[in-house]
Amino acid sequence: MERFVRVASTSEIQPGQGKVVEVDGRYVALFNAGGAYYAIDNTCLHRGGPLAEGLLEGKVVTCPWHGWSYDVTTGANTVNPNICVRTYPVKVEGTDLHVAV
Ligand code: FES
Repeated sequence: MERFVRVASTSEIQPGQGKVVEVDGRYVALFNAGGAYYAIDNTCLHRGGPLAEGLLEGKVVTCPWHGWSYDVTTGANTVNPNICVRTYPVKVEGTDLHVAV
Protein backbone atom coordinates (compact mmCIF):
# COMPACT_ATOMS: atom_id res chain seq x y z
CA MET A 1 0.00 0.00 0.00
CA GLU A 2 1.36 3.40 -0.95
CA ARG A 3 2.23 5.74 1.86
CA PHE A 4 2.36 9.37 0.84
CA VAL A 5 4.80 11.63 2.65
CA ARG A 6 4.63 15.44 2.61
CA VAL A 7 7.84 16.64 1.01
CA ALA A 8 7.38 20.29 0.04
CA SER A 9 4.91 23.06 -0.54
CA THR A 10 3.88 24.11 -4.01
CA SER A 11 5.54 27.53 -3.56
CA GLU A 12 8.95 25.86 -3.22
CA ILE A 13 8.94 24.53 -6.80
CA GLN A 14 8.01 27.05 -9.46
CA PRO A 15 7.01 25.96 -12.98
CA GLY A 16 10.10 24.76 -14.88
CA GLN A 17 11.98 23.94 -11.69
CA GLY A 18 12.97 20.84 -9.76
CA LYS A 19 13.89 20.07 -6.19
CA VAL A 20 15.46 17.05 -4.57
CA VAL A 21 13.52 15.64 -1.64
CA GLU A 22 14.18 12.68 0.61
CA VAL A 23 11.49 10.10 1.17
CA ASP A 24 12.24 7.09 3.35
CA GLY A 25 15.95 7.36 2.59
CA ARG A 26 15.45 7.71 -1.16
CA TYR A 27 16.45 10.83 -3.10
CA VAL A 28 13.64 11.86 -5.39
CA ALA A 29 13.63 14.66 -7.96
CA LEU A 30 10.33 16.50 -7.86
CA PHE A 31 9.49 18.72 -10.84
CA ASN A 32 6.88 21.30 -11.67
CA ALA A 33 6.20 20.92 -15.40
CA GLY A 34 3.80 23.71 -16.28
CA GLY A 35 1.83 23.35 -13.05
CA ALA A 36 1.78 19.54 -12.94
CA TYR A 37 4.12 17.79 -10.53
CA TYR A 38 6.17 14.69 -11.31
CA ALA A 39 8.63 12.67 -9.24
CA ILE A 40 11.48 10.49 -10.52
CA ASP A 41 14.66 9.06 -9.04
CA ASN A 42 17.19 11.84 -8.57
CA THR A 43 20.07 9.66 -9.76
CA CYS A 44 20.89 9.67 -13.46
CA LEU A 45 21.46 6.17 -14.85
CA HIS A 46 24.58 7.26 -16.73
CA ARG A 47 26.92 8.11 -13.86
CA GLY A 48 24.68 9.22 -11.04
CA GLY A 49 24.18 12.89 -11.85
CA PRO A 50 21.61 14.85 -9.81
CA LEU A 51 18.55 15.10 -12.05
CA ALA A 52 16.75 17.63 -9.82
CA GLU A 53 19.50 20.09 -10.76
CA GLY A 54 18.99 19.53 -14.48
CA LEU A 55 17.35 21.87 -16.95
CA LEU A 56 13.63 21.18 -17.31
CA GLU A 57 12.16 22.06 -20.70
CA GLY A 58 8.52 21.11 -20.98
CA LYS A 59 8.41 17.57 -19.63
CA VAL A 60 12.03 16.73 -20.36
CA VAL A 61 14.86 17.14 -17.88
CA THR A 62 18.48 17.14 -18.99
CA CYS A 63 21.10 15.80 -16.60
CA PRO A 64 23.53 18.56 -15.61
CA TRP A 65 26.57 16.28 -15.86
CA HIS A 66 26.68 14.91 -19.42
CA GLY A 67 23.32 15.71 -20.96
CA TRP A 68 21.26 12.53 -20.83
CA SER A 69 17.61 13.51 -20.83
CA TYR A 70 14.49 11.92 -19.42
CA ASP A 71 10.75 12.43 -19.77
CA VAL A 72 9.71 13.27 -16.20
CA THR A 73 6.21 11.88 -16.80
CA THR A 74 7.44 8.37 -17.62
CA GLY A 75 11.07 8.28 -16.45
CA ALA A 76 12.13 7.15 -19.93
CA ASN A 77 15.39 8.29 -21.45
CA THR A 78 14.56 10.35 -24.52
CA VAL A 79 17.21 8.66 -26.71
CA ASN A 80 16.76 5.08 -25.47
CA PRO A 81 13.33 4.51 -23.90
CA ASN A 82 14.52 1.14 -22.58
CA ILE A 83 16.54 3.09 -20.03
CA CYS A 84 14.12 4.33 -17.37
CA VAL A 85 14.51 5.99 -14.03
CA ARG A 86 11.85 5.08 -11.52
CA THR A 87 8.80 7.29 -11.21
CA TYR A 88 6.79 7.93 -8.05
CA PRO A 89 3.21 9.03 -7.52
CA VAL A 90 2.68 12.64 -6.48
CA LYS A 91 -0.37 13.97 -4.70
CA VAL A 92 -1.21 17.64 -4.25
CA GLU A 93 -3.32 18.56 -1.26
CA GLY A 94 -3.91 22.29 -1.08
CA THR A 95 -0.40 23.71 -1.10
CA ASP A 96 1.24 20.51 0.12
CA LEU A 97 3.11 18.12 -2.18
CA HIS A 98 3.20 14.47 -1.20
CA VAL A 99 5.26 11.67 -2.75
CA ALA A 100 4.96 7.92 -2.21
CA VAL A 101 8.00 5.64 -2.62
S1 FES B 1 25.51 11.35 -15.12
FE1 FES B 1 23.78 12.06 -16.14
S2 FES B 1 24.40 12.25 -18.18
FE2 FES B 1 26.14 11.47 -17.17
